[in-house]
Amino acid sequence: MLHEPQEYKPIISAEAPEELKEKIGKLGVIETSVHTPPYTMHKFWARRPWRVFRELITRFTKPGDIILDPFAGGGVTLVEGLIARRRVIAVDLNPLAVKIMKHEVKPLNMGLYKGALKRLAEVIEPVASEIYAVRCPHCGGKAMAIWTEYDSTSNKPIRIYYECPICGSKGIKKPEPGDLPEPQSMPQFRRVQIPIGDKTSDLLKRGIRFFDQLYTKRNLYMVLRLKEEIERLGDPFDEDVKSFLLFTLSSTLKWASKMSTYEDP
Ligand SMILES: C[S@@+](CC[C@H](N)C(=O)[O-])C[C@H]1O[C@@H](n2cnc3c(N)ncnc32)[C@H](O)[C@@H]1O
Ligand SMILES: [Zn+2]
Repeated sequence: MLHEPQEYKPIISAEAPEELKEKIGKLGVIETSVHTPPYTMHKFWARRPWRVFRELITRFTKPGDIILDPFAGGGVTLVEGLIARRRVIAVDLNPLAVKIMKHEVKPLNMGLYKGALKRLAEVIEPVASEIYAVRCPHCGGKAMAIWTEYDSTSNKPIRIYYECPICGSKGIKKPEPGDLPEPQSMPQFRRVQIPIGDKTSDLLKRGIRFFDQLYTKRNLYMVLRLKEEIERLGDPFDEDVKSFLLFTLSSTLKWASKMSTYEDP
């Protein structure tokens, strides 16, 4: 429901200092809008609306001031504070939050980053074309699965969207024997149990107790291979570029997982 500004009554704790009550009372209505690119690069839970933070920062501080956010999460105070030329100390207990914040604000050598992506593609494409291989229903040659839909009850593949580099055909096909060969090995990884939280009961019902169980064997293999290949990159790719690539990979994990759903348009 949209509130007209004159209807707006901020909820302020009775125990708040008078000065703060007065300041908050004067804020009025702040329109929110969708997240901007620094925030859409990587998901974070409970990110606050950036316009509200921008307003709080510009109203209550001046350029050069130091702002401390001890629960900085997805970095809204950090990004908006820096844009408004404040100095910001952003702290968070969660190492993922710290990594996200670092890459939201740290300059990146884009030329080097794009070069690293190209190098990775050269190494990974031959691997992907093997483990996502399907028979082209048009010419019988080796095509590639772009996505695969699994039945949520049987966990079996039911539809594959393929593209064929030989005859150029693409479309949806039914899986057939020989399609999507399973990887024969698995890169080493540390198995980590998913901590019990508000959202874990759905996962437990589906028999998912460890993070790796969120992926099909094939997608887990690809994600781990990508991680390995990023870590293996040598000169001229420095630690900053590698860290940003891992951050990019982390941001895409939701699309690789079994939790990624598909709806017919
Ligand atoms: C609601 S989120 C903050 C969201 C942030 N305002 C934003 O807009 O992205 C709360 C954050 O507090 C962090 N946190 C919880 N307890 C903490 C503690 N004791 N020390 C530091 N950070 C903590 C959590 O990891 C989480 O990232
Ligand atoms: Zn074909």
